[in-house]
Amino acid sequence: ISMLSWQRTSFHFQPEKNWMNDPNGPMFYKGWYHFFYQYNPKGAVWGNIVWGHAVSKDLINWMHLPLAIVSDKWYDINGVWTGSATILPDGQVIMLYTGCTNESVQVQNLAYPADASDPLLINWVKYSNNPVLVPPPGINDKDFRDPTTAWLTAEGKWRIIIGSKMGREGIALVYDTNDFKTYEIEGILHAVPGTGMWECVDLFPVSTEESNGLATLANGPGVKHVIKASLDDDRNDYYAIGTYYDKNHTWVPNNPSIDIGIGIRYDYGIFYAAKTFYDQDKERRILWGWIGESDSEAADVKKGWASLQSIPRTILMDRKTGTNLIQWPVEEVESLRVNNTDFDRVEMKAGETIPLDVGLATQLDIIAEFEIDKEALDKAVESNETFSCEGSGGAAERGALGPFGVLVLADETLAEQTPVYFYIVKAKDGFFKTFFCTDKSRSSEATDVNKQIYGSFVPVLEGENLSMRILVDHSIIESFAQGGRSCITARTYPTKAIHEAARVFLFNNATNASVTASLKIWQMDSADFQIYPNDATRQ
Ligand code: FRU
Repeated sequence: ISMLSWQRTSFHFQPEKNWMNDPNGPMFYKGWYHFFYQYNPKGAVWGNIVWGHAVSKDLINWMHLPLAIVSDKWYDINGVWTGSATILPDGQVIMLYTGCTNESVQVQNLAYPADASDPLLINWVKYSNNPVLVPPPGINDKDFRDPTTAWLTAEGKWRIIIGSKMGREGIALVYDTNDFKTYEIEGILHAVPGTGMWECVDLFPVSTEESNGLATLANGPGVKHVIKASLDDDRNDYYAIGTYYDKNHTWVPNNPSIDIGIGIRYDYGIFYAAKTFYDQDKERRILWGWIGESDSEAADVKKGWASLQSIPRTILMDRKTGTNLIQWPVEEVESLRVNNTDFDRVEMKAGETIPLDVGLATQLDIIAEFEIDKEALDKAVESNETFSCEGSGGAAERGALGPFGVLVLADETLAEQTPVYFYIVKAKDGFFKTFFCTDKSRSSEATDVNKQIYGSFVPVLEGENLSMRILVDHSIIESFAQGGRSCITARTYPTKAIHEAARVFLFNNATNASVTASLKIWQMDSADFQIYPNDATRQ
């Protein structure tokens, strides 16, 4: 066991070893959740990309299966890149993926299960006439990748989109097909100047009326459509909510100032190349996201692995604000909760830090609610301050109404700590603005790790308390504010706050306000990771 093995997580998905990136082709098929992923079988850095594969009954406990799609044809010899699954009405599974050819051209390929009656879908066949799509005129050979799940048009054809760019303009190209073998280009779904290459585009419906997810082909009254693009230059996932027009294959944002790449993000920490799928079993839409490392490449090589996947998140329209999505860890993760400790109405004066005794604190699910002193809010003066989490001094910089929150993966002396917190500003217009941040600046005494401060504005409605949920799993901290309106995923590499030495604290660094906190904290069991018997592809 390597010295760094404690950094491996216990309930986040990761392969046994080596490099992983994007989630690919997630679906629910014959009783199993299938998860594929970009994988380097040869090392802990990106390269030699093929599709890893695992199955689960509950999205939490997994069985690793043999590699699903390997790189063995001229049209994917330089990599079996990202793709998506479509389940046709008759149950047939269609897999479309990007191949990087012998000449490093990005093309789209078709694959399907060799035996549709096998619920584990162990063996995959590539269509004999691949590639099914090559870059169209005017599109660079290296800017044409990551086909989506297909949906039916009103005309009865299957439609997909593929990310690209023209100059500095990020675009999504639209294709229609009857059989997934031959396609017609319809045009551009949407474009945003200055956003660069759109990787891993996603388009999906959300309900403005109901609290269930929607199948990919839903449209009509009470339905809005979300586009997401992963900005290659920016390395973040941006989404926007808007209206999709089937007939002229376009999409228009609700609010042009919150468009893709210039608006809101799925996550304000490290979270990229995310993909949703519709879980027809539980009628919900689920989001997966790739979470890379924040340490050095040398450290990844040393530990022999790199990257995690997020806890799958249920994704819904926020019907209260109407302006953002809600992301929340799938309910199945709660099956790992053990040893609950409750803290009821803990009062913190301005400047206080209070230890919370929960026992072992490397695997936790924390739910915390905060009430800030009403008098302090009434007395607050309007400020010119233009606060941003990343541009601030972090959790140590004190303001009138914050920061306050939870310190996780902290050692007893607080030499190492990662604060997850709120910060409130009374703006010039007299309204309060709330920010949700994670501060990695003191997360580790190691020097070769990223120590950014993450975060953003989070909507808080009249009468709502401030609330957060934090999943702690050794080297990952996944945080959700206001029921999932804003999310921050951080990777941290403490040197002291590990094993039994990791602690949790409450803190209130406001200068003028006392804060009352109530928390429910559970330790989390480890998820079960099994290996499929007789796996010949495993070295
Ligand atoms: C996103 C991405 C995709 C590509 C894949 C290659 O992280 O660059 O655009 O298909 O990864 O591994």
